[in-house]
Amino acid sequence: MRKRIYLCLAHMSGQEQKFIQEAFDTNWVVPLGPNVNGFEEDLRQFVNSCSDGTTINKEVVALSAGTAAIHLALIACGVQAGDEVICQSFTFCASANPVTYLGATPVFVDSEPDSWNMDPELLERAIIDRKAKTGKYPKAIIPVALYGMPYRIEEIMAIANKYGIPVIEDAAEGMGSRWKGQVLGTFSDYGVLSFNGNKMITTSGGGAMICKDAEAKRQIMWLATQAREAYPYYQHETIGYNYRLSNICAGIGRGQMTILDAHLAHHKHIAQRYREAFAEIEGITFHDAPSADYDSNYWLSTALLDENVHIQGEESAYAEAVQGAVGGAAGVVHSGGSVHTDCEPNRNVEALRMYLDKAGIESRPLWKPMHKQPVFRNCPAYTNGVSESIFKRGICLPSGPMVTDEDVTYIIETIKQAIK
Ligand SMILES: Cc1ncc(COP(=O)(O)O)c(C=O)c1O
Repeated sequence: MRKRIYLCLAHMSGQEQKFIQEAFDTNWVVPLGPNVNGFEEDLRQFVNSCSDGTTINKEVVALSAGTAAIHLALIACGVQAGDEVICQSFTFCASANPVTYLGATPVFVDSEPDSWNMDPELLERAIIDRKAKTGKYPKAIIPVALYGMPYRIEEIMAIANKYGIPVIEDAAEGMGSRWKGQVLGTFSDYGVLSFNGNKMITTSGGGAMICKDAEAKRQIMWLATQAREAYPYYQHETIGYNYRLSNICAGIGRGQMTILDAHLAHHKHIAQRYREAFAEIEGITFHDAPSADYDSNYWLSTALLDENVHIQGEESAYAEAVQGAVGGAAGVVHSGGSVHTDCEPNRNVEALRMYLDKAGIESRPLWKPMHKQPVFRNCPAYTNGVSESIFKRGICLPSGPMVTDEDVTYIIETIKQAIK
């Protein structure tokens, strides 16, 4: 029987266990140590190298999750209860959730249709309107590199600087993506990376913050290690967090850094295969970079399905409630019971997901925009219909380092068969 094809499974270099063994041998089984330092140094060198051979000078802190990095960046931006933070609506919930941890309110901004990321024009409109309505500017702006695609960082930074609002780049999905040759996460004062199990590289769970200088790095490390004052006993004057990466997980990260370039090349190769194949299938559009400035890592290859393309089994799409979660090891999932919500992928998209699933291929809908999520129903939103329309038509396809050329051929053939 053919093995199941997953979206993005982790892939090991073989070096990981050497670094982990060293940690055990030297009894560094703690959230600090040689692997944490070594991983940070590897990351620092990677993010500072530009495609044209020049270098920049950012610092990196390894943390327990990308979500933790966003939380700490918000604290570093001075976000407090009652504040507002502008978030990209089209994203995974972890971009916006930490705003609420601080008692602040996310203000959602919709996407533009080319990159699928934050629309700069709508961003400026939102900033002006929030000032008019609340008397103050939002405290931070969080653009997201959705599926690895760069956001329009130059325009976003120009607007942010005009109004004096800091930017937190959520490059959790965009590790190694570049804008005009410079690594995402290095354009603003705070860049976020994720090393969760399905990301470009993994530490099983983990993340990092790219900071502007050594002082900013010290401040983030201090907050991430319970914010202790310098006394011979435990003195605390600020609330801290336990967000440092473990030395064991960092060992995995050091091993993964040896194959990061290979992973990036592989994701781009898979994307190229879909790009070529979909150019010949009417009704399916590969989501491509809008121009050569956008160097996406294609963490996940995504495509849009025209509404008038019909898929086998479409009549029974949404016939019954799904059990569990669609989309990976998602932990515990509540059973809602109902089959429909007020915003869901089109029937043909759900039918394609089910058809691929039966053929042993994992696929996934795009992230459902945050302004359509019940949990954020009371948050302000500046929308243009773009993310909702893309969500309804979009699908994520297997893209990870374990997906072979032969797998892609099978996936493409299966999609062709699925179309009526
Ligand atoms: C866009 C985005 N932001 C933030 C995160 C959070 O990263 P982590 O899972 O490492 O907490 C993720 C991924 O999980 C993500 O996809």
